Amino acid sequence: MIIMAVESSCDETAVAIVRDGREVMSNEVYSQADMHALYGGVVPEIASRNHIIVISKLADSAVKKAGIKKSDIDAVAVTYAPGLIGALLVGVNFAKAAAMSLGVPLIPVHHVKGHIAANYIAYPDLEPPFVCLAISGGNTLIANVKSYTEVEIIGTTRDDAAGECFDKAARVLGLPYPGGLPMDKLSQGGDDSAYKLPHAKIEGHPYDMSFSGLKTAVVNLVHNAEQKGEELDRPGLAASFARAVSETLVPRTISAAKDLGYDKIAVAGGVAANSRIRADFEKVAASENIKLYIPPLKYCGDNAAMIGCQGYYDYLTGKTAESDLNAYATMAISEKM
Ligand code: KG4
Repeated sequence: MIIMAVESSCDETAVAIVRDGREVMSNEVYSQADMHALYGGVVPEIASRNHIIVISKLADSAVKKAGIKKSDIDAVAVTYAPGLIGALLVGVNFAKAAAMSLGVPLIPVHHVKGHIAANYIAYPDLEPPFVCLAISGGNTLIANVKSYTEVEIIGTTRDDAAGECFDKAARVLGLPYPGGLPMDKLSQGGDDSAYKLPHAKIEGHPYDMSFSGLKTAVVNLVHNAEQKGEELDRPGLAASFARAVSETLVPRTISAAKDLGYDKIAVAGGVAANSRIRADFEKVAASENIKLYIPPLKYCGDNAAMIGCQGYYDYLTGKTAESDLNAYATMAISEKM
C-alpha cells in the first residue's frame, strides 16, 4: 500500500511517500526555521502562508523522487492535530483535495503518534509494546505504546515542553532559534556541574515533569550575571542545563519501562537529537538491559515519513476521515475522532 503523507503542524512543510508503513520512498522536508529565527520563535501566520506557497511543489517532488505516478497512491495521510491551527489547516485541506482528486481514502494522523512511529521506520524489528519518550518543541510526554494504534500517556510535562525550555534558555544566552542544537554545541566540553539547577518533582506523579522552574532559573542566572557585570561560564551553563533536562527525562522513562515490565524504550521528537540525552539513555539502558531505540536525526524532527508510517497502521484499524475533516490545535493522543 502506497501512502502519500502530509505534515504541516508547525514550521516544517513535509510530504513523503511511504510503502506498507515502513519503507520510505521519498521524504521531502522544507524548513522555515530561518524565517522564524528573525523573531526568536515561530510566527503562526508566517508559517501558514509559507506552507501554502511550498506544499504543492513539495508533493510533486515527493512523487517524482519516489519514482511513482500519482495514480499509484493508495491513500493520503495527514497530521490533523495537535499543532498551530492555521498551519495544520493548510496540510489538512491539501490532503483532502489530493485524496478527493485521486479517489483514495484520507487518513487523519495524530502528530505525536507520528513522532513515535518514526522509530518503526528506523528499526524494522521494533514492535509494540514499549515505552516511548516523546520530546519536541511543543510536547514532552512518556507514553505506554500498547499497540501500533493504542497509546496511553503515563507522564507529561505540567508546563513547558523540553524543546521550548531549550529554546528559551538559548534565547537568553543570545543563541539563534531554534536553540536546541546551538545549546547542544555550546555545551560540548562544558563542565556539567558548573551550575546547580533545579530538578522539579511532582508529588504523587512519578512520571510527570516540570521545566518552567529550570527555564526561570537560567533566565535569572543570566540576567543577574549581566546586572552584576559577572562573566558567565557559557559552556558550563549549557552543559549544566542539558544535564538537568536529561536527569529529568531519563530516569522517569527508565522507571516507566521497568514498572510496566517492558525491555524496550523508544525516544522520539526533535529533542531526541540532543547528545547528552542520547548518551545518558545509552549508558542507563545498557546497564539496565533495556533495548534502546532512537531514530536518526532526519526522523527526529518534524517529517512526513513518520506520518505515513503511523497512517498505515491507523488505516489497518479502519481509521479514515471524510472531506469534512477538521484540524485541532490540541488533542489527547488517546482521543478517538
Ligand atoms: O520535533 P520537532 O522538530 O518539532 C516539534 O516541536 O514538533 O522539535 C523541535 C525542537 C526545538 O525545540 C529544538 O530546539 C529542539 O527540538 N532540538 C534540540 C536539538 N535539536 C533540536 N534540543 C536539544 N538538543 C538538540 N540537539
